[in-house]
Amino acid sequence: MKNLVASFLCVVLLQACIQPKTSEITVASPNQLYQLVFRLQDNKPFYQIKKQDRDIIKASQLGFELKNEKALKDHFKILDIKQESHDESWEQIWGEQKKIRDHYNLAKIFLQESIAPYRKLNLIFKVYDDGLGFRYEIPRQEGLDSLLITKELTEFNLAENYSTWFIPANFESYEMLYQNKPLSEVASANTPVTFESADQSIFLSIHEANLTDYAGMTLNKKSGEELSMVANLVPWPDGVKVKAKAPMQSPWRTIQLASTAGGLIESSLILNLNEPNKLADVSWIHPLKYVGVWWGMHLGTNTWTEGPRHGATTKEMHKYIDFAAENNINAVLAEGWNSGWEKWGQPKAFDFVTACNDFDLEDIVAYAAQKNIAIIGHHETGGDAPYYELQMDTAFQRYQMLGVHHLKTGYAGPIQPKGQFHHGQYMVNHYRKVVEKAADYKLTVNAHEPIKPTGMRRTYPNMMTREGARGMEWNGWSDGNPPEHHVVLPFTRILAGPLDYTPGVFDLLYHKAGKRVKWNDQDKGTSRINTTLAKQLALYVVFYSPMQMACDLVDNYKDQPAFQFIHDVPVNWEYTKVLNAQIGQYITIVRKDINSNDWYLGAVSNEKGRELQIKLDFLSANKRYKAEIYADTEDSDWKTNPYPIDITTQEVNRDDVLTVKLAPGGGQAIRFKALE
Ligand code: NOJ
Ligand code: CA
Repeated sequence: MKNLVASFLCVVLLQACIQPKTSEITVASPNQLYQLVFRLQDNKPFYQIKKQDRDIIKASQLGFELKNEKALKDHFKILDIKQESHDESWEQIWGEQKKIRDHYNLAKIFLQESIAPYRKLNLIFKVYDDGLGFRYEIPRQEGLDSLLITKELTEFNLAENYSTWFIPANFESYEMLYQNKPLSEVASANTPVTFESADQSIFLSIHEANLTDYAGMTLNKKSGEELSMVANLVPWPDGVKVKAKAPMQSPWRTIQLASTAGGLIESSLILNLNEPNKLADVSWIHPLKYVGVWWGMHLGTNTWTEGPRHGATTKEMHKYIDFAAENNINAVLAEGWNSGWEKWGQPKAFDFVTACNDFDLEDIVAYAAQKNIAIIGHHETGGDAPYYELQMDTAFQRYQMLGVHHLKTGYAGPIQPKGQFHHGQYMVNHYRKVVEKAADYKLTVNAHEPIKPTGMRRTYPNMMTREGARGMEWNGWSDGNPPEHHVVLPFTRILAGPLDYTPGVFDLLYHKAGKRVKWNDQDKGTSRINTTLAKQLALYVVFYSPMQMACDLVDNYKDQPAFQFIHDVPVNWEYTKVLNAQIGQYITIVRKDINSNDWYLGAVSNEKGRELQIKLDFLSANKRYKAEIYADTEDSDWKTNPYPIDITTQEVNRDDVLTVKLAPGGGQAIRFKALE
């Protein structure tokens, strides 16, 4: 059945009308709180965003510079304006929220140069209650066929010196710690980049949606301006940013808007600005929990390469499959199963078909199938995209024939062809090719070193999760991720889409790791996990991913009562609510399981301990629940005493208020099990 996602239409209100030819037009959000103002100023296109009378983004310019052509940025007149209102609901195949409302006011503005060469440019604005998006459209027209965009001129002239959470712009990686500075001190940023007003009444995040056949957008400070950012697209090796043909549409430039920090997380703007599901059959796509041969390599106890410390052996895989089958885990990942790891970092290193001698792929898949466990195949490309494209059909076909339906990819290394960047148009197209081809072979995708998420999971729901952040692996061989990292990611990177952070290390100080061999230059021998044990559990609720790993060595879960939470926690939700949040300090999220009446709560803190009062009024009326509470103890502390955890139960209902106590660097996880 085509288009399961756009399953039902609530109300569609289309009021197409052509407006008088004016040079200024205002589009309000459906609740009237936000206004988008478009105007021609000296015949140049500008947009502005207001919250009633207060500017959020001041007049900001739009347009393009092109190679071998005049810039497409001025001498415009408005030909026409089309306005529409739209209110529709649709359902996600999987996600943090089943039903999504797509409710906006739209204005499409048709511009044309009033002097030669009389080129046309359209701008489309969609204004929602949770933010807005705008995109450029270059229509089919005579004299403008191929386009070489050398600069996108989109500005974001922020109205206040917002407190800003950002990672500096980078064309190759998002694996950095977020910084928090006044906007005036931010030189550049990757997106999503998130801002908070001094009075904490305005929260906004700039990103993009539906990044298709275009370069990824970073932001640079506009020279000489303290509060203005301007788009800086990731280039091709020849310096051109985007190679396109008219007609073309740019990705949406998105500005999520909320009056609380949690409101940003509850927003569906990015998904709404993507196309509905394109896959005819989605019956084979399932969210899952997984374990895998992985953490041992990052700890340096195992190797990806064949040899005495090789991790991915048939014997080890059997052990992981047995563990998964006994512990409500759906799948097992194997890294280092194929040949080529000794050449990691060189072009043409990896062979995606030939298994290592001690890894019997057929046997492993058959053994797993008997126990109803899926295998997640791994393809580390080392960044060699063309060599991967050459092997993709054969490799995917092999997986399909064997019954492997899940794929983790990796691009840890310099991109081939030389001079291309991870986040440029060439790679944006490559990553998409992988997802589309994977769908042809009924494979779901978990991409590492990916392009950032921009909502593509709506269109290709086999694009499950991805990295694109400083994940758990960094704790294996570097200074690691400080407690604050976990209370910044939900307001920045995860606003864009699911994150394969891979939580769940129980051996926080690596006491049981055995002999670790240094394999990474950043390893000073002091690595550890910078959280309490309860916080590891809470991350399963706080960080959304439809593929959620329990990443520790499975031996470390044996005889651990706390593992029960990972056993129970779902990966697919009906509702998500943020109960309280301060960016960089703490957050409490509750989510309702899609398959039962149970709710789950995750609360996490930064370096500071704190006590939160949690009203349970999200629970259903007339129901009693058993709260299974995994809490930091009185003297838990991420730094000095990370292991102690209190596991208790109590009966609650929606009239109750719980005191949730979080240790420094701590967290709390609760399952509310419906009793009737
Ligand atoms: C980096 C990925 O993020 C990690 O998960 C993987 O284990 C290594 N590359 C090797 O592919
Ligand atoms: Ca990585």
